This record gives sequence, C-alpha cells and structure tokens, in this order.
Amino acid sequence: MFHLINLNSHSDTSGRLIVLEEPNSLPFLVRRNYFISNTNTIEPRGFHAHKSQKQIIIALNGSVDITLDDGKNKETIVLNDPTKAIYIEGIVWREMKNFNNCILSVLCDSLYCEDDYIRDYNEFIKITNKK
Ligand code: TYD
Repeated sequence: MFHLINLNSHSDTSGRLIVLEEPNSLPFLVRRNYFISNTNTIEPRGFHAHKSQKQIIIALNGSVDITLDDGKNKETIVLNDPTKAIYIEGIVWREMKNFNNCILSVLCDSLYCEDDYIRDYNEFIKITNKK
C-alpha cells in the first residue's frame, strides 16, 4: 500500500520550513535515513520491493518519477514538491526514473538488511499473487 502524505510547511520571506513528526505526519519511528543524490536523468534506480520495511520518500529538491506496483495496481507519481511524502508499506515494487536535479530522502523504520529486499520481479509477482 502507498499514499501521499501532505507535510506542514511554514514559509516566509526567509524561506520554507517543512515538518515531519510522529505520529501526525510520520506513521512510524525512524531508525534510518538515507539520501540519494548525484543522480542523472538516464539511469533509473530501485527495481526492488521490501518484505516488511516501511518507508517515507521525499524529493528534497528537483523531481523524479516513481512507479509503485503492489502486484495488482501500478501507479507513477511525479515527486517534485518537498511538502509531499510518499508512504510505502507492505510489498511494493518501486522504480525511480527521470531524475531531474533530484535529492531524495528516504526515512525507514528499520536498519539496512539485504534479506528484506526482493530484487527479482518474478519472485515479487509470485509473492504478491499468493496474498
Ligand atoms: P540499492 O538499494 O541498490 O539502491 P536503490 O534503491 O537506489 O536502487 O543500494 C545501493 C547500495 O547501497 C547497495 O550496495 C546497498 C547499499 N546500501 C547500504 O549499505 N545501506 C543502506 O541503508 C542502503 C539503502 C543501501
């Protein structure tokens, strides 16, 4: 399952401040935060699902097209506004492409664990079709 969360922002002439706080706009306590930067427009990333990890993805700068697929429905979201966060939980395949000057922040509820990854699309389809 995935959906967009609108983040509170406070703007004035000196700039914009955007807030995430648990539990209001952050559905879990964060144990890890990583950033994806120095991206280029022609190389896509992602191509995996997580078995149990929950994530929030925010484009801090620029834009990226994120395709999310839960095995039944597939949707592409243009993420180009730091006040919009994508919340992903459950087994969702993600592909990120068309990076344009983008810095992505990914907030996670758990530590990095390769065993939590599904990197093979056929395996992903088998697992989601069993549910
Ligand atoms: P990867 O998951 O393949 O990136 P993407 O989702 O953008 O396709 O991760 C790239 C590399 O970084 C891979 O060698 C694993 C490593 N990595 C960590 O060591 N810790 C982390 O928290 C993450 C997310 C990745």
